[in-house]
Amino acid sequence: MKNHKRIVMLMICAAIIAVIASPHFPATAADKEKKKKDRALERTRETVKMLDNVYKTAVVLITTHYVNDDDDLPAGTAAIALFEAVGKSGTHKARLLDASGEPLEEKNAAKDEFEKAAVKQLKAGESWHEEVIERDGKRYLRAATPIPVVMEKCVMCHDNYKGLKKNEAIGAISYTIQIK
Ligand code: HEC
Repeated sequence: MKNHKRIVMLMICAAIIAVIASPHFPATAADKEKKKKDRALERTRETVKMLDNVYKTAVVLITTHYVNDDDDLPAGTAAIALFEAVGKSGTHKARLLDASGEPLEEKNAAKDEFEKAAVKQLKAGESWHEEVIERDGKRYLRAATPIPVVMEKCVMCHDNYKGLKKNEAIGAISYTIQIK
């Protein structure tokens, strides 16, 4: 009887240890591969956040220091030129998008399904919209972040930003970058 009890106790202990330890031992190679891929996705998100910070800081600094009347080269135009040049280098693509519904240039309106969904989410107050896509066997992160009316000066050329709430998204930057 005593022995019987001991065996049951041992079995219970073994079961508890197995449950506690199981997350630490990925069961299959596929699990391991998935974890690795997710780490790659996480790193790619961090890269986009870093780029986003650099681009937006540049736009605000250029507007602050160089744009004084509506004849000056707008930071938006400079950003588009920068995105085009960097896009050619092949590391990532970025696009300046309108979210106000009245872009100064029609080409800056949201085009594909991803961009349209992103603008909708960002206008509703989200700070990030993403989708992972596959093209020619490669994985890409598409992500979009909002642009609020950061400064009074923006209204100088964009009449339609007048009267908007300070944090409301009037634009977005949309990124496409390979997940490696
Ligand atoms: C000196 C005038 C001027 C100022 C100031 C200005 N912009 Fe623009 N902005 C433009 C022009 C012109 C374009 C179109 C550029 C193009 O497509 O080549 C543009 C494009 C944009 C776009 C893309 C959508 C669209 O309307 O075509 C966004 C978003 C944008 N600007 C945001 C801002 C923000 C935010 C500020 C303030 C930090 C700002 N702009 C200040 C002139 C200006």
